[in-house]
Amino acid sequence: MTFPVALQDGVVLRVLEPDDVSSLAAALLRNRDHLAPWEPQRSPEYYTSDGQLDRIERMLAGMAQGTQVPLVLSQDDHVVGTVSVNDIVRGAFQNGHIGYWMDARFQSRGLMTAAVRQVVRFARDSLGLHRLQAGTLRENIRSQRVLERNGFVRFGLAPEYLRIAGRWQDHVLYQRILPL
Ligand SMILES: CC(C)(COP(=O)(O)OP(=O)(O)OC[C@H]1O[C@@H](n2cnc3c(N)ncnc32)[C@H](O)[C@@H]1OP(=O)(O)O)[C@@H](O)C(=O)NCCC(=O)NCCS
Repeated sequence: MTFPVALQDGVVLRVLEPDDVSSLAAALLRNRDHLAPWEPQRSPEYYTSDGQLDRIERMLAGMAQGTQVPLVLSQDDHVVGTVSVNDIVRGAFQNGHIGYWMDARFQSRGLMTAAVRQVVRFARDSLGLHRLQAGTLRENIRSQRVLERNGFVRFGLAPEYLRIAGRWQDHVLYQRILPL
């Protein structure tokens, strides 16, 4: 399969582009309070076009090296969410980690569930991976529902796994074995 893929409500899932820089910075600023409980603390530069340009360049370099696939959900070329496969490791592991967020105004329409479904297909059919992993905060029921509806299975609880919102916090770990 290839991107772009049409989801619903005119929202398309496609590979991140350098031209997304101002739209991505605007979306992150607009959603700062919405995302703050679920993400690492960000520097002020993170919400600027310059900060996002650095990030986009790093992510696209990672894609060229085969270690990540950064995707955006966009409507009329405005970024309304992202979903990425990161830390791709080959060899005996054939594994990637997924992460995502959705613009507050676009939540609860099933969009992230649909996007993750496409990412699972892509990881299996195009990347040839064996496994995807994701971690959520214990209280992130919404994110857990997205994973469970895409066949991810909870396999553990990692104490103090990531520094989120300024605190080392426990995460529920999920995996999806792809050929299933
Ligand atoms: C998690 C997130 C990406 C989900 O995006 P979304 O497009 O709203 O997801 P969907 O609409 O596909 O599905 C959300 C599901 O959670 C359900 N849900 C929402 N709030 C809920 C709650 N408090 N308790 C239980 N279920 C809830 C929704 O009803 C929906 O399930 P349903 O369709 O079975 O009813 C989005 O909420 C987000 O960006 N959150 C902040 C960032 C984040 O948490 N990122 C992931 C970090 S692991």
